[in-house]
Amino acid sequence: MSNDPRQLKASLAGFEYWHYAFDLGGVQTPITNHTHINRMRQRRRYFLDPLLQICGGDLRGKRVLDLGCNAGYWSLAVVEAGCDFVLGVEGRQAAVDQARLVFRELGVDGARWQFERGDVFSYDYDAAGPFDVVLCLGLLYHISKPVELLETIERINTDLLVVDTELSLARGERIDIRREPLDNPRNAIDHEIVFFPTRRCLTSLIRQFGYEVRVLRPALNDKEGMDDYVDGRRRAFVCAKATDLSGLASDAEEPPAFARVTSRVRRVVRRGTRQLGRRAGVIG
Ligand SMILES: C[S@@+](CC[C@H](N)C(=O)[O-])C[C@H]1O[C@@H](n2cnc3c(N)ncnc32)[C@H](O)[C@@H]1O
Repeated sequence: MSNDPRQLKASLAGFEYWHYAFDLGGVQTPITNHTHINRMRQRRRYFLDPLLQICGGDLRGKRVLDLGCNAGYWSLAVVEAGCDFVLGVEGRQAAVDQARLVFRELGVDGARWQFERGDVFSYDYDAAGPFDVVLCLGLLYHISKPVELLETIERINTDLLVVDTELSLARGERIDIRREPLDNPRNAIDHEIVFFPTRRCLTSLIRQFGYEVRVLRPALNDKEGMDDYVDGRRRAFVCAKATDLSGLASDAEEPPAFARVTSRVRRVVRRGTRQLGRRAGVIG
């Protein structure tokens, strides 16, 4: 733990990019996009609260694996929810360093966490596993091997899995192929080609590995920074091998064509609003 706020600020400034707003004893991580604060709050409401609900209110006694953990925001959330231990596996060294710094600064007991640089496909989980809960958040649409990822998860996970992911709005059971640049710190670490399954496709894939699945209905109380969830382009899937999920309501599936149209209309309106704002700024 750093006793000197100036030294801590300098360490934080040494990182190129901070995605999450952490409060490290009064020193804030320097995020650039402030809508992320609401986004993380809303994502907690959306999938962390239901996870805690089905676990009886907290994660005491549980070992958690956080795949593609970035700077450890969700690892911290599960530690705060009482889990015994969390392992975060992340492909970018800078993000692993950020997570370690955050946990040390907050004084989290070192026996309760571990962050390692690794590719989620080849990491050796056996020393730390198996895991009662696996978090696969914001990762599935940055990879091109969804079946292999689920095979890996199924092998090391004894019960609960949460997948939060962007989806294709195509019809039926399909996977879209897209490209993304590898130099964005939130993107894929290996291949530019990434796969976006439809909601139905992902549900079937997860069921194939023996899980019961609930696609959660977004429970947002502030939509800032949440367009993808509002448009139906992103959903969280709570999945279980053993825990009873009957207390979780599944989101009604919008017809894909309707969701595609509303998503496009919202995008056009947003673009128009931004352009008008810019013009007003220039003229005014
Ligand atoms: C969009 S971020 C999501 C971060 C966090 N899980 C969340 O939901 O807020 C995706 C993260 O996964 C990491 N990542 C992508 N592909 C990976 C892989 N094959 N193995 C390990 N990490 C990977 C990226 O470096 C990035 O930090």
